[in-house]
Amino acid sequence: MKTVIEPFRIKSVEPLHYTSIEEREEFLRSAGYNLFLLDAKNILIDLLTDSGTSAMSTEQWAAMMRGDESYAGSESFYRLKAVVEDLTGFRHVIPTHQGRAAERILFTVMCRPGHVVPSNTHFDTTRANIEYTGARAVDLPLAEAADTQARLPFKGNMDVAALERFIGTEGASRVPLVMLTVTDNSGGGQPVSMASIEAVRAVTARHGIPLYLDACRFAENSWFIRERETGYQGWSPKKIAQRMFRLADGCTFSAKKDAFANIGGFLCTNDDRLAAQEKDLLILTEGFPTYGGLAGRDLDAIAVGLGEVLDPDYLRYRIASTAYLGRHIADHGVPIVEPPGGHAIYIDAGRMLPHIPRGQFPAQSLAVELYRHAGIRSVEIGSVMFGPHAKHELLRLAIPRRVYTQSHIDYVVEAILEVSAHKQDLRGFEIVEEPKFLRHFSARFKPAPGS
Ligand code: F0G
Repeated sequence: MKTVIEPFRIKSVEPLHYTSIEEREEFLRSAGYNLFLLDAKNILIDLLTDSGTSAMSTEQWAAMMRGDESYAGSESFYRLKAVVEDLTGFRHVIPTHQGRAAERILFTVMCRPGHVVPSNTHFDTTRANIEYTGARAVDLPLAEAADTQARLPFKGNMDVAALERFIGTEGASRVPLVMLTVTDNSGGGQPVSMASIEAVRAVTARHGIPLYLDACRFAENSWFIRERETGYQGWSPKKIAQRMFRLADGCTFSAKKDAFANIGGFLCTNDDRLAAQEKDLLILTEGFPTYGGLAGRDLDAIAVGLGEVLDPDYLRYRIASTAYLGRHIADHGVPIVEPPGGHAIYIDAGRMLPHIPRGQFPAQSLAVELYRHAGIRSVEIGSVMFGPHAKHELLRLAIPRRVYTQSHIDYVVEAILEVSAHKQDLRGFEIVEEPKFLRHFSARFKPAPGS
């Protein structure tokens, strides 16, 4: 059979709430045209993020009932630790309430002013946590990846020659660690090949620099390796993931992505001295090292999710359904970041709406129109998010795991193609209220004059 179906059936449902275009126009006005400020109940299909929005399985819910809420020495922790050790091989597993808490602890311990931390592309919380310590975060993506239309199998790879040059210029003593984000979220959900991880590993090992994975979407990355990289075709996703992790010295992980959990994360390391310092910091703000800011039941949900996410039937469906959305809009003339990524499709709004200048936020305009037209929420990844540092004006459609069916995705395709058919009517926006921090989450907009 050729049709790829959802490899699950539905036991518990959540109703969706329809609204009219007139109602949505009013909601938009009162939210200052910032989709973060909408009430979630007024959204029909929510593609804001794939983070913490997964549907949990019957096995996860059952495991939650086994949660051991002991303050210290919880059984739930030991169950999670065993799963993470088997998967990653790391000596220390430190639970945290989500990915950014793991980042904050890692960089507080490892970074100082004057340090620089290279990555293929840092996610925004990773960059912010590095810069908060006074260190610098530097992206070294492939030069070809700057072209949204270039179809590379591993567009998330780091430019290894640039890394070598970079360490040569800066001096290894100023580079406390190198990060690799798998898959590369900010770069379009694009995978990193095993060969590239090995090449980065060779450079870091030569200079005595630890390599860490930002492993939020490690399972999706493993599937792309199996599908696209020579030599891995017969491998199980788990075996590929185990190999990826064993090339690194540690990782940060948000369990809100590839563990199907609604909250959680962890930090791993092979370094005993660092682990001791990290656990001290953990106790200050997250909690005791056997729960790290989570309930015991959350630890159990993550432990089960980490097994389920590596099921080949799930990953085949997951990557196929993201590609389905991407191909159905791109083949009808909507420019996306090619090829489709693992967890999301990114529309190149700068290319789609050339009549809206960058300073008037073309991707924000598209996000607003997609909500107005069809009740779909997406997220701007462009000049609103990054200000003058934005490389592109993208609109991200992130797909929550196991939540929406193919007919929901068909509805999204139809809505995008309808918006595309009247794209010349879309107008730009200007910011009327701008907080000092977190403009993306709380700025208010109004249609630009003349629009
Ligand atoms: N690293 C990457 C690559 C991420 O995508 C995220 C979160 C984090 C770290 C931080 O993890 O949210 O658990 O603290 N990304 C979400 C998103 C928010 O929408 O892409 P967290």
